[in-house]
Amino acid sequence: MSNSELLHLAADISFIHTDHLWRRTGSWVGYQYYGPDFYEDIARIASRGVMDMLFFGDAAETPEIYGGDYAAAVKLGVRWPKHDMTPMIPLMARVAPGVGFGLTVSTTYHHPFHVARLFSSLDHVTGGRTGWNAVTSAYKNEAANWGYDSMVLAKNRYARAREHLQVVQDLWASVEADAIVMDREGGIFADPEKIHLLNHVGEYYKVRGPLPTMPSPQGRPIIIQAGQSPDGMDLAARFADIQFVHRRTDASVRAHRAELDSLLAKHDRKPRDLGCLWSIRVQAGETDGEARAKERNMLDQLPPDAGLIELSFFYGIDFSLFDGDMKLSDTAEMVRAEQVHWGTFEELMKTEDPDIRIEELGRKFIAERTLFVVGTPQRIADRLEEIHEAGGRNGGIILAKNFSAPGTIRDFVELVVPELQRRGLTKREYAGTTLRENLVN
Ligand SMILES: Cc1cc2nc3c(=O)[nH]c(=O)nc-3n(C[C@H](O)[C@H](O)[C@H](O)COP(=O)(O)O)c2cc1C
Repeated sequence: MSNSELLHLAADISFIHTDHLWRRTGSWVGYQYYGPDFYEDIARIASRGVMDMLFFGDAAETPEIYGGDYAAAVKLGVRWPKHDMTPMIPLMARVAPGVGFGLTVSTTYHHPFHVARLFSSLDHVTGGRTGWNAVTSAYKNEAANWGYDSMVLAKNRYARAREHLQVVQDLWASVEADAIVMDREGGIFADPEKIHLLNHVGEYYKVRGPLPTMPSPQGRPIIIQAGQSPDGMDLAARFADIQFVHRRTDASVRAHRAELDSLLAKHDRKPRDLGCLWSIRVQAGETDGEARAKERNMLDQLPPDAGLIELSFFYGIDFSLFDGDMKLSDTAEMVRAEQVHWGTFEELMKTEDPDIRIEELGRKFIAERTLFVVGTPQRIADRLEEIHEAGGRNGGIILAKNFSAPGTIRDFVELVVPELQRRGLTKREYAGTTLRENLVN
C-alpha cells in the first residue's frame, strides 16, 4: 500500500446509530436520526483531522441469535436498523475534501460485475476516494435474506471470494487509464484498442466485460480485507491494499504482521504492498480524570445484556442460554462449528483467560474486544506509536466504534491529532486528492 511510515488514520463509523450508541449522552442531539447532516458533519471533522478514511461495515440482516428471535435487536436498537450506506458516501465526499471512504460489499451475495461497476461509479463521483471492504459475510441471519437456506460454509465462501476478487480486478483493468479520448473535432470518444473483453468463465462466475465505466481516478479503487482466519489472511495477501485487523495485544500485532509478510512473499508481493489498520478504541480527555469519567459514563450507559448480544451476533450461538458457570473455553467448539468469525474468536482464546465466565466476558467484550486506550492526548499518542511500531510502521489505525456521536471523533481530531502531528507521526495536510495518494504518502 505504501512506502510511507506515517501513521494513517481511519475511523469505523459502522452502526454508530445503533447498539448502546443511539441513546448515549449527546448522541444525535440536533440531528435527524440516521440522516445525512450527521454523516456530513463527521466527514467534515475527519477532514479537519487529515484522516484518510471513514469506513462503513455491513451485514444486511436483523440479528435473531440472542434469545432466538429479533425482539432484543429491535427493542434495544442493537445492530438494527441497517441502511445501505452507499448513498451517504457522495454526500459526505462533497463536503469533506481529502477523506476517503471504505464501503463493505459481500463477495458471497453480490455479483462481481455489480461490485466492479458500483465501485467504479463511486470512485468517479468521489474523485478517486473509495475503497471496497470485500467480506465473505459470516453473519448467520444474512444468508436467508439473499435466498440461502443456510450460510455458505467458510471454505466455500473463500473459494468464491478468490474468483470474485480476480474478476473485479480484471473488470477494473478492462478500461485502460487513457482510454477516454473525447476528441470533439475528430468525433472520437474512446479508443477501442484500450478497452478489453474479459470472457471470464470460472467455477462461480461467467462475465464477458468490458466494464462500461470511466477509468478510475486512482488507478482502481482500494481493496480492503478483514478476515483473520487462515483463508481470510490468504485472501488479503493475494488481493488487498489494506487489511483491517482486530488484535488485542502488541504481541498479537507483531505475530499478525509477521504472518502476513510471509503470506505476501508466497504471492510475490512485498510487505509494503499491504498495510494494516489496527482497530483501537480511543477515549480522550484533557486530563486522565476527564477521560476516565467519559469511559465510566460510556460503560454505565450500556444495557446489561449488550455484551452477550454482541457475542451472539458475532459468534453465531445464543449466549443468553448459558448459565453462570459457563466458561469461554467451554464455548470454543460450538463457535468453531458455526464457521463464523473464527479468526477473531481465536484471538480472544489466545489473549483472554480461558476460564473467564461468559457473563464477565460479556461485560468486557464491548469495551475490550480490541485494543483500547483511555487518557490524555499524550498517553494516547504514546500508545498509538507503540502499536504502529509493533506493526512495522506499515499502515495505521482504525478507530473502533463506541462513539458518543459525533463527540468521540471530534475529541480525537481536536485533542489527539495535534499531538500526533506535533510528533511527526501523521501528516498535516493531504498528500493528494485520491485515497491511494493519501495512503501511499
Ligand atoms: C475492522 C473490521 C471490520 C469488519 N467489517 C465487516 C463487515 O462490515 N461486514 C462483515 O460481514 N464482516 C466484517 N468483518 C469481518 C471479516 O471481514 C470476516 O468476514 C470475518 O472476520 C470472518 O472471517 P475470518 O473467519 O476469516 O476472520 C470485519 C472485520 C474487522 C476486523
